[in-house]
Amino acid sequence: MLITNIKALVGAHPKTQLSLRGSELAQLPVLENAWLLLQDGLIKDFGLMSDIPSQISNLKFQISAKGKYVFPSWCDSHSHIVFAAPREEEFVMKIAGKTYEEIAAAGGGILNSANKLTQATEDELFERASQRLHDMILQGTGALEIKSGYGLTVASELKMLRVIKRLKAKFPIPIKATLLAAHAYPAAYKENHQAYIHLITQEMLPAVAEENLADYVDVFCENGFFSVDETEQILVAAAKYGLKPKIHANQLSVSGGVQIGVKHNAVSVDHLEEIDEHVLTTLAQSETIATLLPSCSFYLGIPFANARGLINHNAIVALASDYNPGSTPSGNMNFVVSLACIKLKMMPQEAINAATLNGAAAMELSHQMGSIAIGKKANLFITKPMPSLAFLPYSFGQSQIETVILNGQIYG
Ligand code: NIG
Ligand code: FE
Repeated sequence: MLITNIKALVGAHPKTQLSLRGSELAQLPVLENAWLLLQDGLIKDFGLMSDIPSQISNLKFQISAKGKYVFPSWCDSHSHIVFAAPREEEFVMKIAGKTYEEIAAAGGGILNSANKLTQATEDELFERASQRLHDMILQGTGALEIKSGYGLTVASELKMLRVIKRLKAKFPIPIKATLLAAHAYPAAYKENHQAYIHLITQEMLPAVAEENLADYVDVFCENGFFSVDETEQILVAAAKYGLKPKIHANQLSVSGGVQIGVKHNAVSVDHLEEIDEHVLTTLAQSETIATLLPSCSFYLGIPFANARGLINHNAIVALASDYNPGSTPSGNMNFVVSLACIKLKMMPQEAINAATLNGAAAMELSHQMGSIAIGKKANLFITKPMPSLAFLPYSFGQSQIETVILNGQIYG
């Protein structure tokens, strides 16, 4: 397939650039009036229309993208899309003034989702997650990380991870699976944390490893959830099975989750709505990616992360959706990019890089995803005609995406 007359081909980073740190994040290479050739599911070549080779310009499968932009697909490195049912009753409680912690303490929250998940069959979960993923792909997502964490028993965590395995097989995008058994303490373990940690380390991890169901391990390191010490026990045990951490850190308080994640070579620490100077310097000196989830701040009404501080301190910043039924009932990465500009004060170029190349890096996929480079996967989208690059985040709440291409083929 050949795409011609592209108004602007966005994100043509050198192939060796695997992530963008600090001020590099503002550098978004764009080719104006370009062509892009896709072959065997990969990006084969690209260039300026003024230099298009004649043997290429005669190709049969051509799309004209006159007035339109071509982007590498969004790489959404943090989601919880396998869940049984939405929780809009909590949405109404929130409007009436209850906080996320109060709703969780009243039997809502993660435990509410865990109850609902026990009753759903694997097939039902698969159907519902498939529908969500299909919608996300139409909104431009071309690589995704999905967590367990609404199971909280051996059987239910395995059920969730098997659903993710089936999603990997069904959908034409790279998917990474994360074991988040340490998402909340089930009621029966409220007074006996060690027994639940024992269940995770002695039963769940071996079973997950046996079936090769997870790529990463995650812990919700937060007051009222998993302490730093408890988090560390789980990370140490998971490392024995080769699972690197991706941590829920500093969502509701400065929890120590960032430092413990960095100590254990976390691929990313995610959320970071609450940070201090020590968090900034820790991330600046590490390879761990700071993944920000502005739709969660928007929906819960909690502070927005200090993206400017992280960027100015030279950290690697990514953006992801956090799609889940409790804190972010949306997987729309276009809205995430808009919020990043409007609320995190990221420039459009920074937000786009953070949602593409750095998002791919937060799934260890940036050698094959996240930018327009020869040999990378041909996962991209063509926009509607747009007046400028900034128009995409500017037109918040709308999708500018017209055509989604995965593995070199039109999706949907
Ligand atoms: O990333 N913070 C923990 N986990 C989710 C919310 C889970 C839920 O409320 O169901 C999050 O925001
Ligand atoms: Fe999350």
